[in-house]
Amino acid sequence: MQDEFEIYKVDSDHIDDGLFDQIVKVESDGNEDGYSVETLKDIWMESKNDNFVCIIHGNVIGHISFNPFSKRRNGSVYCINLVVSPNYRRKGVALKLIKAGCEYYLNRKCTLPISLSVDKDNFPAIMLYQKIGFEIKEPMNDIEIDDTQYIMESSFNCVYQIICQSEKKRIKDNL
Ligand SMILES: CC(C)(COP(=O)(O)OP(=O)(O)OC[C@H]1O[C@@H](n2cnc3c(N)ncnc32)[C@H](O)[C@@H]1OP(=O)(O)O)[C@@H](O)C(=O)NCCC(=O)NCCS
Repeated sequence: MQDEFEIYKVDSDHIDDGLFDQIVKVESDGNEDGYSVETLKDIWMESKNDNFVCIIHGNVIGHISFNPFSKRRNGSVYCINLVVSPNYRRKGVALKLIKAGCEYYLNRKCTLPISLSVDKDNFPAIMLYQKIGFEIKEPMNDIEIDDTQYIMESSFNCVYQIICQSEKKRIKDNL
């Protein structure tokens, strides 16, 4: 099953309506507090974000965006909009999406930290981020101050190494 997942980088100026509709569906199925269609358009079609989708049998089942220019966590690559369709969770899809981003930035010799914010009550996401080496940080500026969220940060190299180890373990466990 795992081998059938494919990750693609989607450039904002090449995204077509069919692909965008699938991204909207993943968002609405997978995240009850998810972004509106307008915000998704900003993220996916009108920005300089680096966006990735996970596809299986021609359908998008997960996505993630990386923003190197965010006002939040300025000086880092800020990770947003990670969602995996409910039917495909706990199969390593989020790890594959984050790994693809790590590979992309490490190949470009990026030395910026990777950061994100997560709702304090989002247990699955916090478990995921802690597993791959993210640590809770203090807010750096007013935009980041939000009592409902943690700011988390790590390095691409650290996250990448931990995901590779985790994937090896998953393969071994499935043998
Ligand atoms: C958070 C989310 C993206 C995780 O996606 P996923 O593809 O299921 O995650 P993975 O399968 O790659 O999980 C990797 C590891 O994260 C941890 N993890 C993920 N979901 C977990 C859960 N529900 N409970 C506990 N640990 C969890 C586990 O350690 C897991 O490894 P394991 O399955 O070998 O134990 C998914 O639950 C989701 O889309 N949630 C709604 C949107 C959201 O909250 N996004 C994050 C916004 S900050």
